[in-house]
Amino acid sequence: MCGIIGFAGREEAAPILLDGLERMEYRGYDSAGIAVRGEARGLQIRKTKGRLQALADLTHGGADLEGTLGIGHTRWATHGEPNEVNAHPHVSENGRVALVHNGIIENYLEIKEHLQKLGVAFASDTDSEVVAQLLEYHYNECGNMMEAVGRCLRRIEGSYALGILCADYPDTLIAARKDSPLILGCGEHGSFIASDVTAIIKHTRDVIYMDDGEIAVVTPNGVSVFDDELVPVEKAHSQVDWDVSAAEKGGHAHFMFKEILEQPEAIRRTLSPRLKEGRVVLEGLDLTAEDVRRISRIFIIACGSAYHVGVVSKYNWEKLLRRPVEVVLASEFRYCDPLVDENTLVMVISQSGETLDTMAAMREAKRLGGRTLAVVNVVGSSIAREADHVLYTWAGPEIAVATTKAYSTQLALMNLVGLYLADLLGTVSGEEYRAIVAAAEALPGQLEQVLGHMEELQYAASRYFNHSSIFFIGRNLDYAVGLEGSLKLKEISYIHSEAYASGELKHGTISLIEPGTLVVALGMYGPLFDKAMSNVVEVQARGAEVLAVTTESRLEKMGKTAGLTAAVPDTHPVFQPSLGVVPLQLFAYFVALQRGCDIDKPRNLAKSVTVE
Ligand code: G6P
Repeated sequence: MCGIIGFAGREEAAPILLDGLERMEYRGYDSAGIAVRGEARGLQIRKTKGRLQALADLTHGGADLEGTLGIGHTRWATHGEPNEVNAHPHVSENGRVALVHNGIIENYLEIKEHLQKLGVAFASDTDSEVVAQLLEYHYNECGNMMEAVGRCLRRIEGSYALGILCADYPDTLIAARKDSPLILGCGEHGSFIASDVTAIIKHTRDVIYMDDGEIAVVTPNGVSVFDDELVPVEKAHSQVDWDVSAAEKGGHAHFMFKEILEQPEAIRRTLSPRLKEGRVVLEGLDLTAEDVRRISRIFIIACGSAYHVGVVSKYNWEKLLRRPVEVVLASEFRYCDPLVDENTLVMVISQSGETLDTMAAMREAKRLGGRTLAVVNVVGSSIAREADHVLYTWAGPEIAVATTKAYSTQLALMNLVGLYLADLLGTVSGEEYRAIVAAAEALPGQLEQVLGHMEELQYAASRYFNHSSIFFIGRNLDYAVGLEGSLKLKEISYIHSEAYASGELKHGTISLIEPGTLVVALGMYGPLFDKAMSNVVEVQARGAEVLAVTTESRLEKMGKTAGLTAAVPDTHPVFQPSLGVVPLQLFAYFVALQRGCDIDKPRNLAKSVTVE
């Protein structure tokens, strides 16, 4: 969703802003803009609808704007259609204040009406412009921008990350945050603000994570942070531990493909420091056996693919822990009056650590007394900082909107957490424990094997890419993987797709099967393999064509029935989904490639959903 960058330094700002915005393109946006303040030309604003390239063309790569202080924004429309006027930066009526905003100002209408009564004319339909106008109002009142920001923030309700320029302050940017990510960067040639570290990693790895309610003053010589009463705050600096190449395509046509290939390494990075001499060691999780014994109920809350990780984990954890595990979509959990108490463990899964619904659901769980444990990829993100315990997936930056390596690392890490808890509870035998650890250790190598055989999936994609509807069926863990396979396909190829628990076929779905319909049948889960075979026969009898994904040991049997097959190595059942999802990611990718889709930035989707 929306992206913010700001720069106060000793180099021309516009090219730096454009480059930073380009690095955040993956988040999804529909318009973009920059504001630069120059000695000679004062505040200069340029905005365009559509792709960033239009803004780069309009400004000749930034060469048209003069000045070393600026802010930039990519907007994903919420209030007001995506057009040039609604694009950020927004400027106050007298042209002195310009700002970029992520988040939603909930009481914007009330403030807007108040200002309109005072004669302020608004240009856009956005909630963000209200902040610019309100700032000007308070600035006129008190004559000091910091004070005006303080007054303004006390009036507005909702979520915000703000980057503010004032024509009267030639070398200062002001930033503020509440419930929307914002970091500060300290570089050799100047200082930065950004909503996403990828925007500034090229210039600096020295960052400060702003906390809610904080305001920062950013100048070419450094940054100072204040609380909401404008009292200075000492902030720790963090070093980002990946470099710019991790967020570049490295010769691949798409980030998604690169990230699919990175899965063995991402999983190795996530699992190996946590596997020591055959034991699972989870630093950051200081639960005692007594704590775990007191857990009577477990919730897993997440959105999108992270929710699908939760579905797989429910099957695995209930078997391992013999405790009820409920997976709930974060957007539902937050409003369902959940039955959480101090004996409830609430697992929160999020790649970005910023998904608004997930964050709100986690807060609700904490409010009710639950103990929260977050599995997060982005270090220092809001969810990571607010959870009682956090475990990081070390997937590295994920740029493609459709997640692959973040999903895989979440899945693998959830298995380790499940095993760790089961061990504390004494619900897993020594033999089972060793078998699961061995499977975890073997996983990266087995994934490399899977990625070495893509031909079947390429072929299947070339045969079915123009279908209008594709079904995924499976039982138990296979069903859970099917949910993710189906989501991947619809996200990037725009083909209608549904995943069904095979047992439900006869209760509706089977009526949708016509001659030629493609059914992707998942038959990896050993105990129910024969039933999976029966379901294949059943859909074939109605004319379906079948692409079956199974394990190597079951391939021969499945191959006699299904038209097309792909096989993954056999492993312990808890890790079978980690292997089984890869052919489905590849299938979705190759289908979207054949269809000429914008694979890394699918229409209407955003990488990190920071609004409700
Ligand atoms: C968006 C992304 C998905 C992701 C979901 C949850 O919809 O496109 O790939 O699974 O948000 O995001 P999170 O960052 O919380 O894992």
